[in-house]
Amino acid sequence: MVDLKQVRFLLIGAGNVGRRFLGLVARKEQVLRERAGLQLVLSGVADSSGIAANPEGLDLEWILALKAGGRGVAEIPDWGQPGVAALDMVRGVPVDLLVDASPANMLDGQPGLGCIELAISQGTDVVTANKAPLALAFSRLDELARAHGARLRFDATVAGGLPAVNLGRRDLAVADVHRIEGILNLTTNYILTRMAAEGLGFDEALSKAQQEGHAEADPSLDLEGWDAANKLIILAHSVLRYPASLDDVEVEGIGGVTPQALREAAANGQQIKPLAVAEREDQGYRLWVRPVALDAAHPLASLGPQQMGIVYHTDISGVITAAIVEDTPQPTASAVLRDVVELYGRAAGGTP
Ligand SMILES: NC(=O)c1ccc[n+]([C@@H]2O[C@H](COP(=O)([O-])OP(=O)(O)OC[C@H]3O[C@@H](n4cnc5c(N)ncnc54)[C@H](OP(=O)(O)O)[C@@H]3O)[C@@H](O)[C@H]2O)c1
Repeated sequence: MVDLKQVRFLLIGAGNVGRRFLGLVARKEQVLRERAGLQLVLSGVADSSGIAANPEGLDLEWILALKAGGRGVAEIPDWGQPGVAALDMVRGVPVDLLVDASPANMLDGQPGLGCIELAISQGTDVVTANKAPLALAFSRLDELARAHGARLRFDATVAGGLPAVNLGRRDLAVADVHRIEGILNLTTNYILTRMAAEGLGFDEALSKAQQEGHAEADPSLDLEGWDAANKLIILAHSVLRYPASLDDVEVEGIGGVTPQALREAAANGQQIKPLAVAEREDQGYRLWVRPVALDAAHPLASLGPQQMGIVYHTDISGVITAAIVEDTPQPTASAVLRDVVELYGRAAGGTP
């Protein structure tokens, strides 16, 4: 007889990532029970229509069918509450865990930031895919979590399903990381890689990225390098223990990369890639994002258009490279799930 731990959770955002996360919770129910001794119970969910809440558990398939039909969770019979904010749900429905898959609002972090702060200050653990609250307020959230005995996990915020944060934060916990190199933004890597491989112009490559769901309708944050810079900030805080802000990152987008520059690089055996780098300096780290011509032997040079990757240069753990092919948001949803399992799972918890 398996000793089962029940974890009640709230979900903010039931879009690409949130819905896939719920789908994985349903699909992996038996695996979660058998391998991790976990039963995940959705006690509340919020989208732009309002919330649906039932502390005893909502029907995941119902929600997935509703969202697939383009409807809002507030329409769920009995439990739906139109117009109620996610923050009120966090305040009113006691749970073990908050999962944030709401939009990344880089202006003020809302609604995710307020919900995360409230959850943590109530002693509730948080797993988030939303980078905005962390990029804007990492130190404050980290201190708040320590003060209230809550745990904050965010592997999905940097390069989707790539275990970039967890590799650095957990597996390199006692190593000295003197350099991080990453291709942390899929949109820009997709565009440069297809321009180089197929001779496409910038606009054509961008429109293909948009058609295939690899670029937003407004891709400016990606193209100008700010998305990668935000991810670098999260790595700086969590892996390097270097409390940087966006002002500390030198940022250059990919707009200036011409087909001719890509051809010339190829003639020299190089690939131009959108790199995000943290490199050790006397007083800390220098952080920068810009397109760089990489020699063929570089571990990130051969990454394909649907890939992201990271290289950690360390003192005692060698040079570690990780890369992912991410052609849908499912690996991101799986990163959220693995953070949940790390927090509560039997193997992670160390109990027999
Ligand atoms: N997509 C990826 O591959 C990926 C990868 C890594 C990280 N992320 C991050 O994951 C998060 C979710 O991304 P996504 O692609 O799933 O976005 P999305 O498809 O746009 O979904 C956003 C969800 O949030 C809901 N929402 C919007 N405003 C809200 C509010 N005020 N209160 C509560 N819910 C609200 C939306 O409601 P409606 O359904 O009613 O519109 C929708 O369900 C973002 O922070 C993103 O940066 C995404």
